[in-house]
Amino acid sequence: MEDLQQLETEITTAITACDTLSGLEELRVSEVGKKGRVSLMMRELGKMTPEEKKTFGPKLNGLKTVIIDSIADRKGALELAELNHRLQSERIDITLPTPAENQGSIHPITQVIDEVAEIFTEIGFSIAEGPEIEEDFYNFTALNIPAEHPARQMHDTFYLPENSDGNRKVLRTHTSPVQIRTMLSGPPPYRIIAPGRTYRCDSDATHTPMFHQVEALVIDKNIHMGHLKWCIEEFCRKFFELDNVKIRFRPSYFPFTEPSAEVDIGCSFKNGEIRIGEGDDWLEIMGCGMVNPRVLENVNLDPNEYQGFAFGLGLDRISMLKWGIPDLRDFFAADLRWLKHYGFAALDIPSLSTQNTNIGGGK
Ligand code: DAH
Repeated sequence: MEDLQQLETEITTAITACDTLSGLEELRVSEVGKKGRVSLMMRELGKMTPEEKKTFGPKLNGLKTVIIDSIADRKGALELAELNHRLQSERIDITLPTPAENQGSIHPITQVIDEVAEIFTEIGFSIAEGPEIEEDFYNFTALNIPAEHPARQMHDTFYLPENSDGNRKVLRTHTSPVQIRTMLSGPPPYRIIAPGRTYRCDSDATHTPMFHQVEALVIDKNIHMGHLKWCIEEFCRKFFELDNVKIRFRPSYFPFTEPSAEVDIGCSFKNGEIRIGEGDDWLEIMGCGMVNPRVLENVNLDPNEYQGFAFGLGLDRISMLKWGIPDLRDFFAADLRWLKHYGFAALDIPSLSTQNTNIGGGK
């Protein structure tokens, strides 16, 4: 008995004194491992008389438990000490510049979203968001595109499996559903832009199944097409960084606007290159119009009291135009060489607001 007590003191002292994880593991193997000292003593139990077994059995089991528990405690303490040591010694000074060769870059789409947000927030718009997995109601029906409407076919929609109520959600085909969500979220006026990802089942040099749009919506009393025209001109002037940008409005059709127009920007096509702001050619860049009274009724607004305009454009497309990027698919190929070439420095802040703008001058 005395021996076991002594053994326990000896082993627990050794455990407490041990200051490496590997040393602790050695102790575990040599004491309670398969051929460890205590395990071998337990085997001896078989040779004892029933009386001896009765006294020694529980004592030996108790000893084994004490050893296992104190090894676990010591292990926890050593691991914590090691972690603290690493946290102290591996501290990173985030105020130091990273080495040039390790620097990441800002993707052109992120840069474009920042620039567009900068331009519109400066003239009083706020940023709105909506889900990418969207309900049919917001993506189509409330936008005056009922079931069986031919415009649904134009959208190459990705449908999700049917819900228990028979409805199918969709990957939003445009950012226009954010118009509906905004108008249902509270009373007018609204002055928002909604940049984000959109999806259509389409892929070639100018189409990818996932692409980006930005939507704009303005609803208030006495809003007219003049406001729409000024906003779009102002946007193009700032975004393309050109003082004299030519813009043309062509009549068009969208179910959610009436009247509707497509906006073309003046450009030249020379030697396979597009240059914005020069030449006599035109390139379509966005769809727009006055919000259809039916859409206003769908969100319980009185069209006699409130009017507004909306427009939507492809962010990928305007990035391609601004920076002369030829193939849309490269945007999403995650090729580091491409990102290095077309990406922006990590701390590059869009500086379009420093240009001299005549805000409100066109009102
Ligand atoms: N949602 C349209 C599309 O994806 C673009 C658009 C056209 C948005 C006219 C608008 C608009 O807000 O008024 O093709």
